[in-house]
Amino acid sequence: MTSPGFRTIFEPFRIHSVEPMRMTTRQQRHDAVTQAGYNLFKVHAADVLIDLLTDSGTGAMSRDQWAAIQHGDESYAGSPSYYVFRDAVRELFPFEHVIPTHQGRAAERIIFSVLGGAGKVVPNNTHFDTTRANVEYTGAQAVDLVIAEARDPHADHPFKGNMDVAALDALLTERGADVPVVFMTITNNSGGGQPVSLANLHAVREVCDAHGKLLFLDACRFAENAWFIREREPGQADRDAADIVREMASLADGMTMSAKKDPMGNIGGWLAMNDDELAGACRNLLILTEGFPTYGGLAGRDLEALAQGLREVVNHDYLRYRIRSTAYLGEALQRAGVPILTPVGGHAVYLDARSLLPHIPPLEYPGQALAVALYETGGVRSCEIGTVMFGRHPDGTEVPASLELVRLAIPRRTYTQSHMDFVIEVCEDVARRAGELTGFRIVDEAPALRHFTAVFEPIG
Ligand SMILES: Cc1ncc(COP(=O)(O)O)c(C=O)c1O
Repeated sequence: MTSPGFRTIFEPFRIHSVEPMRMTTRQQRHDAVTQAGYNLFKVHAADVLIDLLTDSGTGAMSRDQWAAIQHGDESYAGSPSYYVFRDAVRELFPFEHVIPTHQGRAAERIIFSVLGGAGKVVPNNTHFDTTRANVEYTGAQAVDLVIAEARDPHADHPFKGNMDVAALDALLTERGADVPVVFMTITNNSGGGQPVSLANLHAVREVCDAHGKLLFLDACRFAENAWFIREREPGQADRDAADIVREMASLADGMTMSAKKDPMGNIGGWLAMNDDELAGACRNLLILTEGFPTYGGLAGRDLEALAQGLREVVNHDYLRYRIRSTAYLGEALQRAGVPILTPVGGHAVYLDARSLLPHIPPLEYPGQALAVALYETGGVRSCEIGTVMFGRHPDGTEVPASLELVRLAIPRRTYTQSHMDFVIEVCEDVARRAGELTGFRIVDEAPALRHFTAVFEPIG
């Protein structure tokens, strides 16, 4: 938030309760990451100083969310907390059926179990890793059709998350019978947290209508996307963010949601849609693995906290601060000459490891080398989004990812500007020593989503 006439952005909240951090030495961090097989997912969080691994479930809940938790009703069926949650979801996403799940990937597993299967093709602007994995697990093919600018980390485009509408039309013309649903990820996490414009969503809707296809949103960061629309899309500047969200929802037939992002939850998700028959099939699967449809793997108190979070996230002071503070980190890194993906996205700054470490070939994982160096240097935990995450294909081949990124994801309302100033210093320090960094090889990996558990060994 900024006050008129002043330059400083400040957090639009006061700190009400604090968590201590444990300071560590470089030697302790070196030992911790070595023991973790150089996989930052395996490092104990207590050994991390600034945890930018993900913005998922790591946000700070508000006083009013903690208060809402006290309203949680834990009835197995028909809990009042479910209806509070359902109504808060419908306030923004007025879908007929709202089905809670324990997190986003549970919603994905259910929808793709119903709609996917061998021979099917699911287009998306860019599948997130769990989305891709859940599509592929059913035997279907996940196809990314983001605009060409998105593949260039330095191309300037206000809506780099947009779908290539002509490519979508061509795919539906060629293989329409195999496409059960079209997905749009807002904002586009794997492509750099980049927004999708309303105009693009309208165009995708038209193509889906022309081919008689369902359109679903993977809407984890819907509020950040709406704020970018308000700031960047002609004619949107005076609109209420919640209103923009409702327009986005009106263009879709349904959605998956990880409520660990914009809905400000530490856990949660949902699946929503209008089609009765599809909803029935999804509910049946939900009962099998998640729970009864009025709680879906969540406690009543979680549902209450999410309902309150949904009201808070569309607040303009919050969104202005959120987007500006992410840009603050990105702009400082740019000034320091650290290559990042531009424009800066909503929830994260993505370091461009390929540009920073041109001497490390993609199959020696430059992103992993950079992420490990940030941790050893300053205890900053980040996440490789490159060949480690996307390089292994279902047929067993390994191919370099289109981008080698390291994501500094910013948990919501958790860190202050001085924490970010420290992160900037750590990145500058590592960038100065970039030429000394060496690559990694993987010595053990799972068949899918290998980045979570892979074991690495330094090369050289
Ligand atoms: C765009 C996107 N879709 C889906 C998911 C999966 O959500 P969850 O982690 O809650 O399973 C994520 C999580 O980061 C995401 O960013």
